[in-house]
Amino acid sequence: MVAVRSLNWTLQRSCPGIHLAQNSININIMNLVWAFDFTAELDDAGNPIEVDTFACHTGVATGPLPFRCRLTPRTPEKAEIISREFLEAGDIFAKFEFALSTEDKEYVSQSRAHIH
Ligand code: HEM
Repeated sequence: MVAVRSLNWTLQRSCPGIHLAQNSININIMNLVWAFDFTAELDDAGNPIEVDTFACHTGVATGPLPFRCRLTPRTPEKAEIISREFLEAGDIFAKFEFALSTEDKEYVSQSRAHIH
């Protein structure tokens, strides 16, 4: 497989973390593509909402502005694996769950309710 070189790793100096960071990015992208179908969100009339792929933050650390889309597990078996792994990784994820929406907070506390 050809590695995805997604980012700019050199400004004045080269990044010594390039292999760790790029491999992490590749693994995360592959997991997401394995697990989910990515499709457009629909508007009230049922038409797909187009995503502006050029709408980005500006500055040194760039990234896309918030956008809506649909992530659907590709099969029921994959949905099962995703839910199980999400629960098992709860202690690790919890450390990073500091800016969740109300909806996400509720989902997290409900989904982990039976293990605490
Ligand atoms: C998406 C992740 C990352 C991106 C996009 C990135 C990008 C960059 C860029 C552009 C520079 C050069 C900055 C300059 O010239 O002023 C840099 C420097 C550096 N990066 Fe990264 N990096 C990432 C992850 C990491 C990781 C995971 C580590 C360590 C494990 C790391 C350690 C460093 C260090 C120590 C420097 C300074 C090198 C020096 O001054 O000689 N980076 N990074």
